[in-house]
Amino acid sequence: MLYEKGIAFRFTLVLLSLVPLCVQHAPAMSSASQSHHSVFSFSDTWHVLGPFQTGTREATWGADPLEYLGGFRHLEYDPTATFWSSLPTNATASWNTTRPVRTTSDATSANASLSIAYSNVDWNFLKVIYGWAAVQYQAWVRGELVVGGNETQHVILHTDSILEFWVDDEHYFGGDYYSFRNAPPVIHLKPGSHKLDIRLVREVRAFGGILEPTIDVVVDVRRVSRSLELVKPGILMSDVVDGKLASPIASVYLINSGEEDIEIVDIQPSKLTSDNSFVGAQALLTEGINIGEQSQHTPPRVTLVAGQTRPIAFNISLPTHHDSVMEYEVTYRTLDGTDTTSTLRVSQALHYVSISEPHKITFLHPGGIVSYAMLRPPAKNATCLPGQTRLPVLLQFHGAAVEADLPQVNRALDPVSDLCAWVLFPTGVTSWSGDDWHNWGFADVEAAIAAIPDWIGNVGWSGLGVDTDRWIVSGHSNGGQGTYYALTHRPDKVLAAAPVSGYASIQKYVPYELWQPADPRRTGVISASLNSYRHEMLMPNAQGIPVQQQHGSMDGNVPAYHSRLLAEQLSRTGVIGRNPSYNEVEGREHWWPSVMTTPELVDFYYNQTKSKEKLPRKMVQFLLVVGDPGDMGGKNGIRVKRLEDPGRYGKVFVSGHSIKTSNIQDLEFDVALWNESVVLDGEELDLAGTAAAAVPSLTACKSVDGWDIRTTDTRVQRNGRQLGSMTAILRSHGPFVIRHSGSAHTSHIALQISRNLHQYFHADAVIVSSPSYTLPADTTGNVITLVTGSSPECIQSTFSIRVGESGVTLRGHRGQKQQYGDEATGTAFLQPLDGERLELVLWGTNEEGLRQAARLVPMLPGVGQPDFVILGESAKWKGIEGALAMGFFDANWRVTPSSVVESW
Ligand SMILES: *[C@@H]1O[C@H](CO)[C@@H](O)[C@H](O)[C@H]1NC(C)=O
Ligand SMILES: *[C@@H]1O[C@H](CO)[C@@H](O)[C@H](O)[C@H]1NC(C)=O
Ligand SMILES: *[C@@H]1O[C@H](CO)[C@@H](O)[C@H](O)[C@H]1NC(C)=O
Ligand SMILES: *[C@@H]1O[C@H](CO)[C@@H](O)[C@H](O)[C@H]1NC(C)=O
Ligand SMILES: *[C@@H]1O[C@H](CO)[C@@H](O)[C@H](O)[C@H]1NC(C)=O
Ligand SMILES: *[C@@H]1O[C@H](CO)[C@@H](O)[C@H](O)[C@H]1NC(C)=O
Ligand SMILES: *[C@@H]1O[C@H](CO)[C@@H](O)[C@H](O)[C@H]1NC(C)=O
Ligand SMILES: *[C@@H]1O[C@H](CO)[C@@H](O)[C@H](O)[C@H]1NC(C)=O
Repeated sequence: MLYEKGIAFRFTLVLLSLVPLCVQHAPAMSSASQSHHSVFSFSDTWHVLGPFQTGTREATWGADPLEYLGGFRHLEYDPTATFWSSLPTNATASWNTTRPVRTTSDATSANASLSIAYSNVDWNFLKVIYGWAAVQYQAWVRGELVVGGNETQHVILHTDSILEFWVDDEHYFGGDYYSFRNAPPVIHLKPGSHKLDIRLVREVRAFGGILEPTIDVVVDVRRVSRSLELVKPGILMSDVVDGKLASPIASVYLINSGEEDIEIVDIQPSKLTSDNSFVGAQALLTEGINIGEQSQHTPPRVTLVAGQTRPIAFNISLPTHHDSVMEYEVTYRTLDGTDTTSTLRVSQALHYVSISEPHKITFLHPGGIVSYAMLRPPAKNATCLPGQTRLPVLLQFHGAAVEADLPQVNRALDPVSDLCAWVLFPTGVTSWSGDDWHNWGFADVEAAIAAIPDWIGNVGWSGLGVDTDRWIVSGHSNGGQGTYYALTHRPDKVLAAAPVSGYASIQKYVPYELWQPADPRRTGVISASLNSYRHEMLMPNAQGIPVQQQHGSMDGNVPAYHSRLLAEQLSRTGVIGRNPSYNEVEGREHWWPSVMTTPELVDFYYNQTKSKEKLPRKMVQFLLVVGDPGDMGGKNGIRVKRLEDPGRYGKVFVSGHSIKTSNIQDLEFDVALWNESVVLDGEELDLAGTAAAAVPSLTACKSVDGWDIRTTDTRVQRNGRQLGSMTAILRSHGPFVIRHSGSAHTSHIALQISRNLHQYFHADAVIVSSPSYTLPADTTGNVITLVTGSSPECIQSTFSIRVGESGVTLRGHRGQKQQYGDEATGTAFLQPLDGERLELVLWGTNEEGLRQAARLVPMLPGVGQPDFVILGESAKWKGIEGALAMGFFDANWRVTPSSVVESW
């Protein structure tokens, strides 16, 4: 089903080959024959309208041709109607009917699996010209869900492989594109028939470009209890290693399936099973990074608004005797006026392992959630170099749709059990590593590394220590791509890298052909928003770092082209060991059981874990290329702090003491490496004198008068976590805060954003509903603010964009004022809050405009949202061409020249 990993990929082939069997069974399984058992039944006949073209990740922008005609929801089935479309013969799309390949129902649930195919498109011919981009397309399908009996039914709705849908008149954007089933919507359905309109968006990244171009989705409805429930069974907790809990941090995933808000009161070990063994082991409720800071007597309020899913973090401790199961009770109060208190019991089987085996450790992600990684400490019999007291971390990143706790991942290095390294298999939080190991996913990697010293304390480890700033990075498929990301974004920490079957960038993986036609300036803005993830542009950053690439020559999933391209780019940087470093394995496909332990990789692991190379390196000549300073570490002691125009790459070319820059505003020097004078863009700067100030780093700032050196930087500017495009919002410290005025439609959108953040990132969000938009004092996370019409003063930007009753006002890069009235339906833009926090303001002229803006909240990587976007109505069908303005803010939050500002 998924593109990256051989294992998952094979599952898909198996599933698909089962489809014909399912078709044969369909009549027997259909709802018609079973409806008397179940309150729920899906229709046997569904109406499909399509196909229409769509580009990689374009659907976020709207770009739905049927919106030009008022939207699918306003069209009635009409077998004689025809619709213009670029894909089918005669440029004609029309309605078709289809039967689910399978429907299932029992007393409390029902589901339908649909498989849509088109016979009037010559996919193979289109693929010859447009490649895999051709087999991405979109369509809509309409069916019915009938609720029997005479009572309202309260359900959750899973929407596997679906991005957008309507249930009656309620719109949902986000769905469950990767079939995570993390955060389904809670829906209250009256008896009778309900209309389901589903937008089908095929995406090669999720289905594989070599499979039959069908669109396969599942809708699954399940009755819920109208109270607090577990959305995932069990407790996320660490393994027990040699009798000790590897970490005390745990989490449960809860959903409020009722219609009233619920407040969590407490989480305690279950008394029934614990007798006296839990005495003194009080589990304190914690919220995000406040863990441990809360007083025992006043646990923070954790509220799940009606329909919300949240991960709840708490500390656990082991029972004194060897139990096989751990049980906790969540006490909660329903905020319905009666304040009834209830409990929910959750249990988890304990997993006992030997300390020498890879095992699960839990830790806090900066986003205020609990995550896990698999850790294998150095083996007792590892023969390390004399004097090697702190060993490097060998990171291994998994592929997409693969969990790190699967043996296929964390047992892959068993054949090299005696490496002189701490072997860590991070998750990136989800099986898709959050955002492909980028902002959210890489923060998880760094948090997992930082958890190793905690682990050493927790288990009382007395073996060799760890150097958490010394990494050997490796990974497969999407994890190979993540390896390139680490290599190009943390060169001062990467000792060596081994990317396997990886891809260079999402654009190279599935080309961005077949988006709706657009002004290249707009396409350019989208593309520039992805600058930091285009590894083929960033290879100079790998100079001087040993790299061992590997790719199966027959890889049909991620073509070997990616590794070949990057090998060619690497060769131009003079990477150490160029010759043996690219290993194309003859006749191999995407994945095979020993893919991570080929003889070349085994040599590389042994060799590099014993490397004595000093980090950070000091090199005479190098080039540093930066797409986004917010996610970029230093190279050879130089770090780019800000770009002049974030819409373009910045470059720093160093040759001895001479440094030349392009598009760089601020540079930081590590004084341990840079303590003499340098010539920066022709100006001589004495670092030695200022180095005497005894600070670890110096900042060189460019102004109209040239460069000057500062030991402290007190300017209030866009800084650190605030840098980058809209995805910078993912660098939240603490749960996200979603604030809105409290009206029914903003509540629905706030809930949907919260659901999407949890669905795609396992993230947590606090929903604050208040007409005054008060920001609770105890929140630390980044803020997403929803506004319609006139906007309260408290969220007014002092910078470049203002929203209000009369529309949107933007100040362009020359200071010119651009006013958009009725033509602007919605806008999404970043603005700063104190302490490097960010706010993403979503504004709409009305509910519909706000809904359009809310699509842009980062969710899927590769969409390319810049810092600000002002949408017009036509974006619904034209996509980015329907944006009135889009682009970037510089260090002073001014619109950059690289932005697009349409004037009328
Ligand atoms: C082509 O489409 C037109 C409508 O746009 C229709 O009248 C005509 O019959 C179609 N031709 C064929 C061969 O399907
Ligand atoms: C459909 O529901 C049945 C019964 O609950 C379940 O066994 C099956 O796995 C479901 N199928 C899908 C694709 O979710
Ligand atoms: C209409 O749907 C059927 C069943 O799903 C499919 O076999 C057929 O190819 C579709 N028609 C067209 C023109 O694609
Ligand atoms: C549902 O309606 C039927 C008649 O239509 C009635 O006999 C039955 O008692 C009703 N059930 C409930 C729970 O109201
Ligand atoms: C929870 O665990 C964390 C990490 O070990 C620790 O810092 C904190 O003090 C703990 N909190 C309580 C209340 O025990
Ligand atoms: C270290 O021990 C493991 C088993 O615990 C064994 O497989 C491996 O060969 C040993 N390595 C050495 C160098 O002795
Ligand atoms: C091991 O590393 C050294 C330098 O890091 C290099 O010279 C040597 O060729 C490497 N050997 C192998 C087998 O990779
Ligand atoms: C200056 O930097 C060099 C490395 O480039 C280092 O060896 C030396 O100790 C540094 N001197 C001081 C005074 O920090």
